[in-house]
Amino acid sequence: MIVLKLGGSVITEKDRAETLDGEAIEQASDTISAALTGGPEDLVVVHGGGSFGHPNASEHGVSTTEGTRDATAVMDIHGAMKTLNEFVLSRLLERDVQAVPVHPFSAAYRDGAGTLSVPTGQIEAMLAEGFVPVLHGDVIAHAGVGATVVSGDELVAELARRLSADRVGLCSTVPGVLDEDDDVIDRIDDFEAVATVLGASDATDVTGGMAGKVRTLLDLEAEAAIFGLDALESFLDGSNPGTTID
Ligand code: IPE
Repeated sequence: MIVLKLGGSVITEKDRAETLDGEAIEQASDTISAALTGGPEDLVVVHGGGSFGHPNASEHGVSTTEGTRDATAVMDIHGAMKTLNEFVLSRLLERDVQAVPVHPFSAAYRDGAGTLSVPTGQIEAMLAEGFVPVLHGDVIAHAGVGATVVSGDELVAELARRLSADRVGLCSTVPGVLDEDDDVIDRIDDFEAVATVLGASDATDVTGGMAGKVRTLLDLEAEAAIFGLDALESFLDGSNPGTTID
């Protein structure tokens, strides 16, 4: 099975509050729909926030470690992410992808040590029945801290582990992890080897840029790829476009 993340910056206009990138969502939905028509494939989609969720989280001072105990703040962040989730679902449904929502706030949490726990029984049941679960970055209860942000990348990693994913893909605004000459690095198997070229994301991003993604993916058993939207088709066809991380 495949766990695919659609980066928030891919499907939204990251610098304009709560603005979709309509063309990008449609391209991604077309590609997912075509790939699933080719044969049955278990697919879990996770999307990020981009210009949804991140501004709300920073307004309330909430990050993956800084929490809030204000339910209004929780609902503000969660509500923005649910709005984006509905847009993504509707584009997929229009193309006959049997996409259904899974909202992390209602199921996942962090314990007192900050360790993320994502129950997957319902996701496995959905997959077995032919659905495509669509999760999203969210806020979740965090023992001792209130509620904190869970990024789509963290969810991807946890889902990949618990569902024993064969392949993990992060569809990003860049064609892969870039070196100092802006060329795509084919393969990364050691963080230190690429640490100096990995900068932080420029727009408001409470969950960390490329460096965090690479670290998270290096920890996974499954082989992962970071690639651009134009390479999504090739990834879903079984190739490893962009940067492979193992
Ligand atoms: C954002 O999820 C979640 C919230 C801020 C509530 P991500 O951190 O996965 O989003 P992108 O992909 O980096 O935009």
